[in-house]
Amino acid sequence: MIFKFVFTFCGLLSLVGCQYLENFVNDNSDLSIVKHELLSINSSQGFTTYTLNLTSLQWFSPQLSDRSVWWHNVFVSVPDNLDEKKPILYLIDDGRNEANDTLSERSKPFTSFSVQCKCITVIQRQIPNQPIKFTGDPENKYRIEDDIIATTFALYLYNKTLFPQETYNYVPLLFPMVKSVKRGFDETIKFLKSRKINFTEKFVVGGASKRGWTSWLVTAVDQRIIATVPIVFDLLKWNENFHNQYMSYGGGYSYALFDYYSIGSTQLLDTLNTRELLKLIDPISYIEKYRGKKFLLFTANNDQFFLPQNTRAWWRDLSIQTDNQVFIKRFPNVDHFLSDETRLAMLKNVKSFLDLINRDADTTRTLPIFNWSFENSLLFGKIEAKLSNLNEFESYSLKAYWSFSENKEKIDFRGSFLLNSNIRSSNVRWSDYSIVQDKLMPNSTIENSYKTLRVFSLFRYMAFYVDVTLKLKNSDDVFTISTDFNIMPEYYPVGDCHGKECFGNLI
Ligand SMILES: *[C@@H]1O[C@H](CO)[C@@H](O)[C@H](O)[C@H]1NC(C)=O
Ligand SMILES: *[C@@H]1O[C@H](CO)[C@@H](O)[C@H](O)[C@H]1NC(C)=O
Ligand SMILES: *[C@@H]1O[C@H](CO)[C@@H](O)[C@H](O)[C@H]1NC(C)=O
Ligand SMILES: *[C@@H]1O[C@H](CO)[C@@H](O)[C@H](O)[C@H]1NC(C)=O
Ligand SMILES: *[C@@H]1O[C@H](CO)[C@@H](O)[C@H](O)[C@H]1NC(C)=O
Ligand SMILES: *[C@@H]1O[C@H](CO)[C@@H](O)[C@H](O)[C@H]1NC(C)=O
Ligand SMILES: *[C@@H]1O[C@H](CO)[C@@H](O)[C@H](O)[C@H]1NC(C)=O
Repeated sequence: MIFKFVFTFCGLLSLVGCQYLENFVNDNSDLSIVKHELLSINSSQGFTTYTLNLTSLQWFSPQLSDRSVWWHNVFVSVPDNLDEKKPILYLIDDGRNEANDTLSERSKPFTSFSVQCKCITVIQRQIPNQPIKFTGDPENKYRIEDDIIATTFALYLYNKTLFPQETYNYVPLLFPMVKSVKRGFDETIKFLKSRKINFTEKFVVGGASKRGWTSWLVTAVDQRIIATVPIVFDLLKWNENFHNQYMSYGGGYSYALFDYYSIGSTQLLDTLNTRELLKLIDPISYIEKYRGKKFLLFTANNDQFFLPQNTRAWWRDLSIQTDNQVFIKRFPNVDHFLSDETRLAMLKNVKSFLDLINRDADTTRTLPIFNWSFENSLLFGKIEAKLSNLNEFESYSLKAYWSFSENKEKIDFRGSFLLNSNIRSSNVRWSDYSIVQDKLMPNSTIENSYKTLRVFSLFRYMAFYVDVTLKLKNSDDVFTISTDFNIMPEYYPVGDCHGKECFGNLI
């Protein structure tokens, strides 16, 4: 099988991972198929939603898959009260390439949110395009979501020789996912201009899970993005965090990662081939590109895909790189799929984040500086939270959250796990405690700590963290951010794996 390749630059240069993505995204050899078509206009209270059909890109040819040309339903909502200086808020959404695909109940609040944020909101669906059937697929089946990504990883890991020159570098599905967003930006701008709407060509981009992953990556290659809101995707430093997962779960990986496990990728975790793949798709490879950008990450404490403590492996590095502009908000007692209540809380936090960014003049930063340290002794576990640059806020409150794993065999705070081939609900619950609530004086800082008894972690692992809620001046809005997880005791239930033994089990 030979794939007809649409690019020409690759045989000429040997590129590093980061340049592959940048070159793929900026390659315009497929531009003749890119277009948008206005399907409908829907005026509601205070805003108008335009539904577009966007044809975004060509990814390889029909010799690779039955879906080489990608199209998307795009919902552009323009509020009557638009503040034209505001960036465009852009949601990367899921969906299938079927004629009846429309806005999900989950995404709908995002259209009317345009009125609250006085900004244009856009929802781009069908990222990735799906289902997809690959040519020569031994199972000859239509694949969706992680199953497609894993299939493209398997092509990269096992079938490089099928691709001429170095074109296998463009096969990880994240590549077209990222490029379709970039093309979505381009066509949104063209559309808004055609409607004579005044706006600013800046974007704040977000999405959940693999679309959160896409948000991280597109931020590395599109200069128009000023801030990023990844949701339930904290898996940066993939290799380190897969090792952490192996040790935390007592020798394996969450059942939710089945698609990646079943292609044998964990067995190849430490190989050169995997390292090369990760250079392409692990957001940490692009860390230099994140300078000057702002991040607000939302995570779920009971996530069955990703360990919320993944952030410990990279938060400090990225914080240094961005001059302390990386924030995390954690949600207790929800899993990877969140909840309606969580989604509402998320939108409120995003509104405050956007308002703060918007107040950000060239010289004065408005976002707080948040840092913390952990100090665990034989008797206590402690988190010390430190905040400064708080002049945009009038008061604050601090809250501690904690939870226990079910036993000492796993550092496991998931809402569900695999037992004898069945998925079971866990008894992991999060509790909270208010530490302090107070007014803020001009130029004041916050330094406060939460201490808990070590003895609680004798028979189970204990995780705890602190949330800070800051009330914005001249507004009813609040901005809430969390520290990392402090976990006691500090040792893993099993040692690290090496080579093929990293295959592990599904847990
Ligand atoms: C159009 O707006 C109405 C009223 O807000 C809403 O019920 C309907 O779902 C909208 N339709 C589309 C396609 O957005
Ligand atoms: C969108 O356009 C593509 C052509 O690029 C077409 O195949 C698809 O059916 C269209 N989808 C909708 C919902 O109109
Ligand atoms: C949409 O159409 C597909 C077939 O094209 C069908 O399988 C699916 O059930 C439909 N979904 C809804 C919500 O009607
Ligand atoms: C990819 O390589 C594997 C292992 O060598 C092989 O079994 C499979 O058939 C190849 N896939 C394709 C699409 O050729
Ligand atoms: C857009 O800006 C131009 C130039 O400032 C102005 O003439 C025009 O009225 C504005 N259009 C809208 C819809 O606000
Ligand atoms: C944050 O805290 C850590 C641990 O105490 C410290 O090493 C680091 O220098 C602090 N960073 C900033 C920006 O204050
Ligand atoms: C706050 O800090 C700024 C800059 O250091 C200073 O000019 C100002 O006087 C301070 N305000 C108060 C009330 O201390």
